[in-house]
Amino acid sequence: MGVDVTRDAGVLEIALDRPQKKNALTADMYALLADALRDADRDDAVRVVLFRGNGDSFCAGNDLEDFAQNPPADEDAPVFRFLQTAAGAAKPFVAAVHGSAVGIGTTLLLHCELVYAAEDTRFALPFTRLGLVPEFASSYLLPLVAGYQRAAELLLLGEPFDAKKAYEAGFVTRVVPSAELTGVARDAARKLAALPPKSVQRAKALMRGPLLPSLRSQMKTESEMFRPMLAEPAARAALESFLARRKP
Ligand code: COA
Repeated sequence: MGVDVTRDAGVLEIALDRPQKKNALTADMYALLADALRDADRDDAVRVVLFRGNGDSFCAGNDLEDFAQNPPADEDAPVFRFLQTAAGAAKPFVAAVHGSAVGIGTTLLLHCELVYAAEDTRFALPFTRLGLVPEFASSYLLPLVAGYQRAAELLLLGEPFDAKKAYEAGFVTRVVPSAELTGVARDAARKLAALPPKSVQRAKALMRGPLLPSLRSQMKTESEMFRPMLAEPAARAALESFLARRKP
């Protein structure tokens, strides 16, 4: 179904598993992700959530075909349910990123506590190029993390950038050799899971809590702009051009 969820001791590992499409996320996958995160917060046995991608990429963002055919109708759409659940999650998030990390493949990282990126990672925030606006409170979090001008370059020009630049922008914890990525991320997740869970979760809540009202309000503003823009000529042309270049 595109999302593979396993648990090893206290670490819930969520592997995006649609490698033939670079793990682009469909509405069904968002629904599975939202459910997995909701269950993780309810289950005391889960102490840490680790995101990674199967195949040669972390995530190529929203599935543009699915998006064009089934645009999210309202705030209850699976994509928005996932964004809300992830932004408010109590358990700490670790991410292991490699290959392509586009759109939500990058903005998700702004909601993670520990982010490990393989040297080969290519990030991109192509919202303006798609005739859309940033999502997942990235328009709030990236300026906060990276500084206004660095965020503006990444969010307004929307050009791909490498792991070094992502590290300098402040949302990657460490750049690691590709062969070591999964091991490094799993070690970090296990270390976190071995610490007293109440301390770890409260430390996360202390850091995130003050931001949460702003994150929720920014996500609402972004999605109110985003939804009608999907039907406008710039976005339609960008989606059609992407769909036209796919292999038959
Ligand atoms: N939605 C739907 N399908 C996608 C996708 C997406 N976001 N990203 C990749 N795919 C599909 C391609 O259509 C292709 O499918 P096909 O083999 O059936 O033709 C397959 O995944 C492999 O992608 P391809 O473009 O051949 O790989 P690449 O290595 O040359 O490029 C990317 C990888 C991620 C740079 C490129 O696919 C891309 O730019 N994708 C769109 C990213 C995007 O704009 N996401 C939305 C952000 S909101």
